[in-house]
Amino acid sequence: METKVSEIANGIYRLSTFVPDIAPPAGFTFNQFLVLGDEPLMFHTGLRKMFPLNRDALARIIPPEKLRWISFGHFEADECGAMNEWLSVAPNAQAAHGQTGCLVSLNDFSDRAPRVLSDGEVIDLGGGKRVRFIDTPHTPHGWDAGVLFEESTKTLMCGDLFTQLGDGAPLTQGDVVGPAIAAEDLFKYSALNPGMGSTIRGLAKLAPKTLALMHGPSFAGDGAAALHALADDYDRRVSDSWREAALKAA
Ligand SMILES: [Fe+2]
Ligand SMILES: [Fe+2]
Repeated sequence: METKVSEIANGIYRLSTFVPDIAPPAGFTFNQFLVLGDEPLMFHTGLRKMFPLNRDALARIIPPEKLRWISFGHFEADECGAMNEWLSVAPNAQAAHGQTGCLVSLNDFSDRAPRVLSDGEVIDLGGGKRVRFIDTPHTPHGWDAGVLFEESTKTLMCGDLFTQLGDGAPLTQGDVVGPAIAAEDLFKYSALNPGMGSTIRGLAKLAPKTLALMHGPSFAGDGAAALHALADDYDRRVSDSWREAALKAA
């Protein structure tokens, strides 16, 4: 396996590892995002077992010990499994996550105390980069789920939202909604809930120009339209699941 590095927006790098054995024959990518600044931040730590690959990939951009912030979508091995490995190589690094994530998991799991972010709180990374943490509970899954929005580039780091199979170009202007619907049909990874559509529509108000997918390419284009289309599809799934449950109960 190799980890490829690409700049997907000004000062934001995608570290991508393709695993052909997951969901073959298409395979599956795991992506981390490095936001440069006086205080560099990485969104997703990657799997613990992929730490050497990701550390070496990051070292092609900045010395790993310069990392200041570590954030991620929700508590899960691919999102934060290597957190303590990163904390051990970067002495000034600190995890940053929402209140639920810190209270439920990170206060125990993280080798150093995390920074607790309230919904909408911004970390100013310096160098013009500002990242806003937004709570998205149970969307697509995880009580503690959240996303990160970099304001200067209007890049939304989506975590597992828009998950798709395959290993395409690092940055696409093509459709990211159809492949996400297909992956949801296959994996059924989302915790379908009545608030899901409105949570995703709330992100569309940010009008992102780039969507940084944890599993899939990054997307350059009308992020709001893609989010609305994804929200509509989840509304349909939630309605269908209620209807099926009602039919079973009848
Ligand atoms: Fe996940
Ligand atoms: Fe993930």
